[in-house]
Amino acid sequence: MKNSSRRGFMGKAFGAVAGVGAVASLYAMKRSWDPLPSVKAAGFTTLDMTAYKENELVVEKWRGKPIFVLKHSKEMIDTLDENKSQITGESLGEIDKKRLVKIGNDYFMVTIGLCTHLGCIPGYNPDEKSFLCACHGGLYDDTGMVTKSPPPRGLDIPPFRIDGMKLVLGEEGPEYKKMKETGITL
Ligand code: FES
Repeated sequence: MKNSSRRGFMGKAFGAVAGVGAVASLYAMKRSWDPLPSVKAAGFTTLDMTAYKENELVVEKWRGKPIFVLKHSKEMIDTLDENKSQITGESLGEIDKKRLVKIGNDYFMVTIGLCTHLGCIPGYNPDEKSFLCACHGGLYDDTGMVTKSPPPRGLDIPPFRIDGMKLVLGEEGPEYKKMKETGITL
């Protein structure tokens, strides 16, 4: 192969590889732009609740705020019942569950992921099943209820409406209205 035609071949080969690379990186960029499993439109965020795994925190976004979505396993629900009844002598599991959103047969913690003290983002510990706010040591349980001060209240719950197996953030459905009326969230 002559030098010039070799250069031409190398140029084409490089161009082809670069082309594949460009397509791949465009694809990767598009994937990272895609709001899956949520779909965002006009201030609403629709979450597909079948997409979450038990005890795995996913941070979604709604109107610029981080939204914690944590699917509870049966074990987490059972522990909720047992732990509270040991402390108080009565079953408070049902009260804790009122902070959770029930979709189908599953329970989810869905909260705004900002500490109610001064707005830091708490981190989830899946072994302890608790959220620690590193700013001043505030703690929350896996329903978003505050278990150690200084946070003055549990993690706030964003307005939501249940639509089959989907959750529409930004709309006030009857379940959310009830949470507000009963003081579970502000
Ligand atoms: S901001 Fe979270 S404990 Fe202070």
